[in-house]
Amino acid sequence: MNESEPVIRSADLSDIKRIMALEEGSIIHPWTSGDIETLITDCNKECLVADLAGEVVGYVGAETVLDECNIGNIVVDKDRRGRGIATILMDNLLNDLKNRGIKKIFLEVESNNAPAMALYGKTGFVRYGQRRDYYGQGKDAVLMSKDLC
Ligand SMILES: CC(C)(COP(=O)(O)OP(=O)(O)OC[C@H]1O[C@@H](n2cnc3c(N)ncnc32)[C@H](O)[C@@H]1OP(=O)(O)O)[C@@H](O)C(=O)NCCC(=O)NCCS
Repeated sequence: MNESEPVIRSADLSDIKRIMALEEGSIIHPWTSGDIETLITDCNKECLVADLAGEVVGYVGAETVLDECNIGNIVVDKDRRGRGIATILMDNLLNDLKNRGIKKIFLEVESNNAPAMALYGKTGFVRYGQRRDYYGQGKDAVLMSKDLC
């Protein structure tokens, strides 16, 4: 295994503290440890981590309802951004969701979050709406979706 290529695996309960640490300072409304535990244990949810030589350097969490899915959070360690780790996480998540029979994926992203907007555009999401002040005054949410076929 190359040190620069993370292994993507399902999160387990021992990853909760690290996932919370990744969220700190990166997410406006971080999940609680209970939220993350549910994300890991609930069969309608999916949580993947990027494991780089034993260190969790990123994660993505999603929830499915019937044949639709909502992506909650995706975070990469501040010191490891811009190296394609989020792209690998997303590619693995999309592949897993397709295998689970998911047909459509939704997400929300703050309009001025350039790296996230670029990531979602690159992985095939298209904009279908906007919610003004969703994240606070002047912080709009862009609504995006992707069809899986
Ligand atoms: C969004 C985030 C997960 C991207 O992680 P990453 O591992 O750096 O992303 P990647 O390296 O896979 O880059 C994906 C694309 O994003 C774009 N990108 C990356 N960093 C960028 C930056 N600083 N500014 C603008 N675009 C950027 C590039 O277009 C890149 O595509 P490329 O490979 O063709 O150049 C990361 O910035 C992060 O954790 N942000 C904080 C949490 C967050 O905002 N999550 C999204 C919540 S909706």
